[in-house]
Amino acid sequence: MGDYGDSETKTYGDYLRLHDLLTLQGEEGTVSPDEMHFIIVHQTFELWFKQIITELTEARNILAQVPVPEDDVPRAVDHLSRTTEIFRLMANQWTVLETLTPQGFLAFRDELGTASGFESFQMREFEALLGLEVEDRMFGVDPLMAFRKLAERGEEDQRVLDRLEARIEEDSLYDSLMRWIERTPIMGSQFGDEGDNDVVEGYIRAHLESHRKIGEDALEKMESVGGRGEGAARERLDSANASASSFLIPDGGISRARAGLLFIESYRELPLLTWPRRLIDAFVELEESMAKWRHDHARMVERIIGKRAGTGGTSGVDYLDATARYRIFKDLWEVRTILVKPQDRPELQNAEFYGYNAES
Ligand code: HEM
Repeated sequence: MGDYGDSETKTYGDYLRLHDLLTLQGEEGTVSPDEMHFIIVHQTFELWFKQIITELTEARNILAQVPVPEDDVPRAVDHLSRTTEIFRLMANQWTVLETLTPQGFLAFRDELGTASGFESFQMREFEALLGLEVEDRMFGVDPLMAFRKLAERGEEDQRVLDRLEARIEEDSLYDSLMRWIERTPIMGSQFGDEGDNDVVEGYIRAHLESHRKIGEDALEKMESVGGRGEGAARERLDSANASASSFLIPDGGISRARAGLLFIESYRELPLLTWPRRLIDAFVELEESMAKWRHDHARMVERIIGKRAGTGGTSGVDYLDATARYRIFKDLWEVRTILVKPQDRPELQNAEFYGYNAES
């Protein structure tokens, strides 16, 4: 631990480098209690962001392996679950800021100039690591542009930019997950096996047929009781069928990754699929916790600054509300729309492959 003595003389303060840490919140008397609280809350978030980057990098490294050793999957789930808990904790921390009155904030807001959470480079780093694409950002915002400009200020800012650019180039967590899911054995057929394409296609066609039939039956029932809005219902049904089909068969070819995802979600009770489905659940939970955290940030902001523009130059609360609609793990969400009830899913082939014994 460098300057901090050997393990026999090391104190709690040494180990945590508290003497350094506690000089970073505004020297005594130079900031008001309100402003110190504002700084501490931000710093706390940034510390958590640092941990989030560590956890997500570990999870990504695990999933980027080909193949992923089976024993590693629970570790990836643990890293994601810890990240989710951090987001849940952070979502609750906004209420501390809400003790700041609108006027209390205005009293020192000018000090911020154009500084804004918008420039949180750690936030941009974990977004890139997760797999948020620039083209999916709200209002065509490209945060990298701001960092390119800032990089002109000196070495420290240049390092931030380099780090962000490197992250954007790397495989994201979402890419790694989908590549792993792509290799899921489907109906006992392994990725790359001879005949695998036919098995996967058979499965997808059977699922789509079942999906179509369930919709038709529901529509028929609706018509038999003289339901209202049948025309609109038919349109919705046709459009749901078309979306299911283009999700699984984009550009005319079957997506094996989406087929694998559908398979895992559809037969989630199979013992061999326990960890895959837990991993997918951990991704979904993580994104849900992030969306709620973003939403709660917007509510806090609305309460303190109303509809004012942000110091970072966005529209403020409207922008933040829009970011709560980001969905990075798009396919994990979309597959939910096309599932069918267990009784109607295509009959499982090669059940024994998945550790399922009909007599057990
Ligand atoms: C009084 C307290 C706060 C207010 C009024 C506030 C307001 C805002 C506003 C208006 C934006 C939109 C960007 C802009 O134009 O500035 C924003 C973005 C952001 N804020 Fe806050 N904020 C507050 C506290 C915090 C805290 C404690 C954090 C923790 C790190 C934080 C993190 C962020 C982040 C990461 C963004 C970027 C969001 C994105 O672009 O997706 N904010 N904030």
